[in-house]
Amino acid sequence: MPLQILQLTDPHLFAEPDGKLLGLTTRLSFEAVLDLALTHQPRPQALILTGDLVQDEQPAGYTYLRQRLEATGLPHYCIPGNHDQRAAMHQWLGASAMDPLDLRRLGSWNLVFLDSSHPGRDSGTLGGEQIDRLDSLLSAQEAPTLIFLHHHPLPVGSAWMDTMGVENGTALLSICDRHPQIKGVVFGHVHQAFRTTRGGCQILGAPSTCIQFRPGSAEFAVDERPPGYRALGLYPDGRLSTRVVRLPHYPESPLQSSQGY
Ligand SMILES: [Fe+2]
Repeated sequence: MPLQILQLTDPHLFAEPDGKLLGLTTRLSFEAVLDLALTHQPRPQALILTGDLVQDEQPAGYTYLRQRLEATGLPHYCIPGNHDQRAAMHQWLGASAMDPLDLRRLGSWNLVFLDSSHPGRDSGTLGGEQIDRLDSLLSAQEAPTLIFLHHHPLPVGSAWMDTMGVENGTALLSICDRHPQIKGVVFGHVHQAFRTTRGGCQILGAPSTCIQFRPGSAEFAVDERPPGYRALGLYPDGRLSTRVVRLPHYPESPLQSSQGY
């Protein structure tokens, strides 16, 4: 059986328990997705949260998240998105807040965590030092590897969203080309399921635990598909299987008429 890890992303939590994003109570939606994830079979070995953990940059969203994640009893790893504050994450999430270019071993696999956040901007970037250190790390480590970051390193086919990817995403893709042990690059930010391949590497986006963005839309648009998570199956021989799992429906009806978020 493969090791199972689950990616939950972009919960956009508020300090206030009833805080809403586009009409959707983000804590309510996160709890519904987390409850569903905890019933996943095979049972998950770890949870990965790929950014936009909070919406309002307040500590209470992080402390709530910490309580919910610790209650699962599963190892969990968090990286920042454009709505997060790195210092606050470390202060309020403790050891589950990853450093830029952090590494965790899971079975025979390496999980690498990047920080693509760029303070003050919605788009992302990977500093030259982070790229160089990643290249060096992968030259020394041949284990099958998954890379996690918040922003998408290539266009996903949605014009408004594609202005907000990793500005130097090609640098990361070049690293994937040079290091075939990278089996997947996994991101949040796009609030939709996405999959493409580059050589033997899968490039994967996931639904948010709250609002979904309509794939292929040139302008901001809310999708009717419900929130969910991405499951990743890590085989000892380096194969990677993956699928998206969704709630049967939105816990509340999101506002469809909004011009942005
Ligand atoms: Fe987000």
